[in-house]
Amino acid sequence: MGALGASLTLVGPPALAADTTGTPPSDSGGCAAPEVVGHRGSGGTSPENTVASIRDARRSHAASIEIDVQLSADGTPFIFHDATGTRTTDVGEVYPDRASSPIVDFTWAELQQLDAGSYFSPRYAGEGIPHLDDAARALGGGRTTLNIEIKSPEDSPGVEAVLAEALTQDRRWQRLVARDRVVVSSFDEASLTAFHELAPQIPVLQIGDIPADDATLDRWAGFADGVVTNYRILDPADIDRVRARDLELGLYTLNSPEAVDAAADLCVDEVITDFPTEMVRLLRGRDPLPRANGIEVSEVVANPDGDDLQPETGEHVVLTNTSRRTIDVSGYQLQDAVINRLVVGEGYTLAPGAELRVYTGPGTDTPDRFYNDLGRNVLNNTGDSVAVLAPRLRLLDLYAY
Ligand code: G3P
Ligand code: MG
Repeated sequence: MGALGASLTLVGPPALAADTTGTPPSDSGGCAAPEVVGHRGSGGTSPENTVASIRDARRSHAASIEIDVQLSADGTPFIFHDATGTRTTDVGEVYPDRASSPIVDFTWAELQQLDAGSYFSPRYAGEGIPHLDDAARALGGGRTTLNIEIKSPEDSPGVEAVLAEALTQDRRWQRLVARDRVVVSSFDEASLTAFHELAPQIPVLQIGDIPADDATLDRWAGFADGVVTNYRILDPADIDRVRARDLELGLYTLNSPEAVDAAADLCVDEVITDFPTEMVRLLRGRDPLPRANGIEVSEVVANPDGDDLQPETGEHVVLTNTSRRTIDVSGYQLQDAVINRLVVGEGYTLAPGAELRVYTGPGTDTPDRFYNDLGRNVLNNTGDSVAVLAPRLRLLDLYAY
């Protein structure tokens, strides 16, 4: 947790993080509430970068939906974030010899054989990797904008031209562009400027740390409409430097109500989140988690002394029952930002005020400790989020550190 909040206190202390119900609208000193951008669709509540997730984000009434685009081996633009299919697809079953191959090594016909929904839940079985054009169809009418991130362009040579061609020559995309419903973003400045030269009518957003030197920020302001940066390392002093250049400011990826409230207080323009439904509710002054039952994350110990996976005392999440009744938490799941899930075993109940420590690594289960023995690290030491899910993926709490 060290670097987090060192310069910017966007992450509340555990006691604050637990208090997410009935959160009032942010008092942001008169500026408009930030616009909510669904990250990879609505990546915390449905399988990221799928049509189902774009539709999920649309239903959230988010102002914008972010997706990632890459190029297949035969030059088709497809929507996908990771460099390989291992985390979010069944590539290991469909192509056992190519499970860790770069995703861009697959042809479009091959990519279409993959299931990109089951990793999230069986209810999304058969959800495929979308073609870029599927995003335009899923976006439909209305005013929702699409933020197309050119992901790892070094792995997708020529992606800028393919994207520019699609957005400027295809009728459906032309209509969206004419209505200011498309922006393009990238961490890669060279890729972004290459795209911008090909399609200067489409706004572009530079993603990355706010540069310390004015010359670089001036250069960004020369082509970009805005900057999108990691909220965990933003120095608030840099906000004025961004504003002075008439650049919009977006922050990623804010997965707790406290982080979004803090961003609203800073008057940023956009907050990118895996939970757009909840954050739209929050910023409209409504309870972001109407299905909460009082089981909340009170602390995350991501980086204990010693090894994160050491027996008995490794990394873990502390759940607290803040309600006045005993709650059966058997089968509850703790989902991180990349959809790793720790589970709570059978037979666990929490009395009012009681705590349960849920570990990633091995140990001896007790009434207040449950060990997943996953054999791999889950909780990111430099910042992560934890969503508490009851059976059937009912969302109870959101915590970030
Ligand atoms: O748009 C910001 C955000 O999407 C950048 O991070 O890795 O999720 O694409 P990533
Ligand atoms: Mg992205």
